[in-house]
Amino acid sequence: MSSENRPLSGTVTVPGDKSISHRAVMLGSISEGRTVARDFLFSEDCLSTISCFRDMGVDITIDGKDVIIDGVGLTGLKKPQKELYTGNSGTTTRIISGILAGQDFDTVLNGDDSIQKRPMKRVIEPLSLMGADIRSIKDNGCAPLSIHGRNLSGITYHMPVASAQVKSAILLAGLFAKGDTTVIEDVPSRNHTELMLKGFGADIETKGLVTTLHPGKELAGQEITVPGDISSAAYFIGAALITPGSDITVKNVGLNPTRDGIIRAFLAMGADITLMNEHETAGEKVADIRVRYSHLKGTVIEGDIIPALIDEIPLIAVAAAVSKGQTIIKDASELRVKESDRIELVSEGLKNMGADIVPKDDGFVINGVEKLHGADIRTQKDHRIAMSFSVAALVSDGPVVTDDSECVKISYPGFFEDLERLKA
Ligand code: S3P
Repeated sequence: MSSENRPLSGTVTVPGDKSISHRAVMLGSISEGRTVARDFLFSEDCLSTISCFRDMGVDITIDGKDVIIDGVGLTGLKKPQKELYTGNSGTTTRIISGILAGQDFDTVLNGDDSIQKRPMKRVIEPLSLMGADIRSIKDNGCAPLSIHGRNLSGITYHMPVASAQVKSAILLAGLFAKGDTTVIEDVPSRNHTELMLKGFGADIETKGLVTTLHPGKELAGQEITVPGDISSAAYFIGAALITPGSDITVKNVGLNPTRDGIIRAFLAMGADITLMNEHETAGEKVADIRVRYSHLKGTVIEGDIIPALIDEIPLIAVAAAVSKGQTIIKDASELRVKESDRIELVSEGLKNMGADIVPKDDGFVINGVEKLHGADIRTQKDHRIAMSFSVAALVSDGPVVTDDSECVKISYPGFFEDLERLKA
């Protein structure tokens, strides 16, 4: 990656939201009738979800930018002929386990090297409480998982970690359970599953931090337009904010309040960000985002906002590294168990580029510097690390070389092309 420091300009439309794309396939598959997910995200993670449901007998067709799912209803999934492979996708692995727990067949769920290191006890525990027989085959709390479908009972579960994947697994298992399932959160995590379940006709209600699913209703297929992914938009927003002279517009970005932490954090840092053309699609807030180069200053990011920007923290750290003053990020120990240990890789990479960053157990302390330098960057094939350091390259005075760039395909296959277009 070269360090041209050219301003970004123009308009970009980022691909569909990853979380919503996954859920459209999952809910569409267990609904009655047809679901059409328009502007679907065709990234490796979402293709893993499609492939798992195809392996369970669901007819899923790709038609241009859309995915058509012919749902089999709550009881129509078929036992897969082989283990279900979820690739690099934690979202697929964790959420699908909730659906599998309620089936009358057994499955083995496995993914790549990164997935096999990520904590699965967080789903094993609540699903076992609901009556599922779900085990870590290597007895290390990680995938591969064996899941023996059982008759489930609803539970009331107080979430020990803020995780939408875990919350979603429990709520989807609740569809197959006897009695109500209630999930209580301390901190709000993304609520796409709740919104989509409601849209598909489930009897679900959220009051503050308490969500209850009353089973017994069939889901009905829907037409959904997937908004642009704010987690993908974040790289261009961050890039424009720190690259002098930039002025860009990112179109059609999902701004669900459980996901818009990046906008709130950048505004607190003094960002020049304007929302335009605000509207709603499939129950989700959407807008175009105009971003101009800004003299960012440090801030403190902690507490309730963390789940609303958890995937964007590597990028925020890059921006903080060239902001004025100190940025403190805490309460984000979840970063250690993402596709990589993001606290370690962000600290290592930014330090090698000359930043003043101190890793903490649950975040970072970053003191802004004037300029970053070129460096070799270790990604461990983590898409968000690769994209964050591509943004850091824009403000470095030498080349930034990441050890992998293919991994961006996990969430944003056209990332480099779109970034080049904005630089042109
Ligand atoms: C996601 C939830 C978050 C997020 C991940 C996608 C989802 O993970 O980091 O990229 O779609 O539910 P956790 O549930 O582990 O917080």
